[in-house]
Amino acid sequence: MDHLKGEKMQKKTTIQPAEGKLGILTVGLGAVSTTFIAGVLAAKKGFAKPFGSVTQMGTIRLGKRTDHKSPLVKDFVPLSPLDSLTFGAWDIFEDNAYEAALKAGVLEKKHLDPLQEEFSQLKPMKAAFDRNYVRKLDGQHIKSAKTKWDMAQMVIEDIQRFQSDNKVSRVNMIWCASTEAFLQPKNVHASLEEFEKAMKENNPAIAPSMIYAYAALKLGIPFSNGAPNLTVDIPALQQLASETGTPLSGKDFKTGQTLMKTILAPGFRARLLGITGWFSSNILGNRDGEVLDDPDNFKTKEESKLSVLDTILQPELQPELYGDLYHKVRINYYPPRGDNKESWDNIDIFGWMGYPMQVKVNFLCRDSILAAPIVLDLILFMDLAKRAGMKGIQEWLSFYYKSPMVAEGLYPEHNLFIQQMKLKNTLRHLMGEEPITHLGLEYYE
Ligand SMILES: NC(=O)c1ccc[n+]([C@@H]2O[C@H](COP(=O)([O-])OP(=O)(O)OC[C@H]3O[C@@H](n4cnc5c(N)ncnc54)[C@H](O)[C@@H]3O)[C@@H](O)[C@H]2O)c1
Repeated sequence: MDHLKGEKMQKKTTIQPAEGKLGILTVGLGAVSTTFIAGVLAAKKGFAKPFGSVTQMGTIRLGKRTDHKSPLVKDFVPLSPLDSLTFGAWDIFEDNAYEAALKAGVLEKKHLDPLQEEFSQLKPMKAAFDRNYVRKLDGQHIKSAKTKWDMAQMVIEDIQRFQSDNKVSRVNMIWCASTEAFLQPKNVHASLEEFEKAMKENNPAIAPSMIYAYAALKLGIPFSNGAPNLTVDIPALQQLASETGTPLSGKDFKTGQTLMKTILAPGFRARLLGITGWFSSNILGNRDGEVLDDPDNFKTKEESKLSVLDTILQPELQPELYGDLYHKVRINYYPPRGDNKESWDNIDIFGWMGYPMQVKVNFLCRDSILAAPIVLDLILFMDLAKRAGMKGIQEWLSFYYKSPMVAEGLYPEHNLFIQQMKLKNTLRHLMGEEPITHLGLEYYE
């Protein structure tokens, strides 16, 4: 295959080494953040394995199948080691990480106690908070400032203090705070100039998540959005990311029911099985569930959850199979379950000659257990992206999100397996390896 030889000479991207400590700032110190941090501390001490994490346990095939070369991802790309991670957070409640983890009720006390000394030293900084965006919560550990602009300066000072107190060489920020009320892009989000003016004028369309993101991007700190809030999905902040050479990614961690959806739907689509209805129902009883009990906050989540099927099934290409699909998502707040969510999916499908069939999925999942490795991977890959000189939207990290951010004019890729290929090929590309297309004709020549 002579014509492939030229393509094999890929150029390796220059990547700055992962020297020194990597500071991680989580916005929100609730179920997801504390489960993530506890898991990293436990892995460092050898108490637990980082199951579910591509950066820690994933392998990547290089070259032909006959080469038998599949190193660990972390041995292939220069990632920050777990030992280098140092944590900080903001929350509207004063509880330290150990207390917050006990309240979140994801991990058992017997698994938290061995980490207590280190874990309880992590005390959240005062939050940039606005009750108009999360009516169900009322914390006292919050900043007060005259304008949203002043608030952003306070967050910038927090970051700089965290950086010098902990002597970290790089910082990464990730939104793991509550889902904010639904917000649509407005004029004030259209350009950085308009956005900064609106912050100074205390415009209600500047959400707290945007204040944190602004502070991070201004300092060149990669920002990831784990919730479905609008946050960095606006031209103003993308412009800022571009100006400061900073990667951003989002939005809404892909866990639980949506993860299942993006595993199953590509299979139905690939085998051309039609779908007439997909009814998804959930019960969950954690603080996230309580916040989502408010219709405005649920609307933000609903948009994110509903968008998934359309781009996988492509009803415009297959109207007979997917043109009449009824898709409904319900989330019910049910306190007795805590973080241990249960979901039911009823999927009405049809096949040969239109004969109907049904698929039922009952997933008894643990939301934060599924989200924690995503947080770790995102942070390490976003840090890699920054060191590799990548800026703006990191579409190759779509694998981790329910509503992947994409460049204007593109539709997001929701199929988990395409997302995985995109991620791994990006890593190969960065390291000067040939992307894998799975063509494989050369084996039969
Ligand atoms: N767990 C999952 O699988 C999953 C999946 C996708 C998305 N998410 C999203 O991740 C986020 C975190 O989920 P969780 O289960 O940890 O929720 P949680 O309620 O346990 O934690 C969120 C924390 O954020 C704090 N907070 C709210 N507004 C804040 C602000 N402006 N500044 C600082 N702190 C603030 C809250 O006090 C709370 O402690 C939610 O938005 C959720 O929708 C979670």
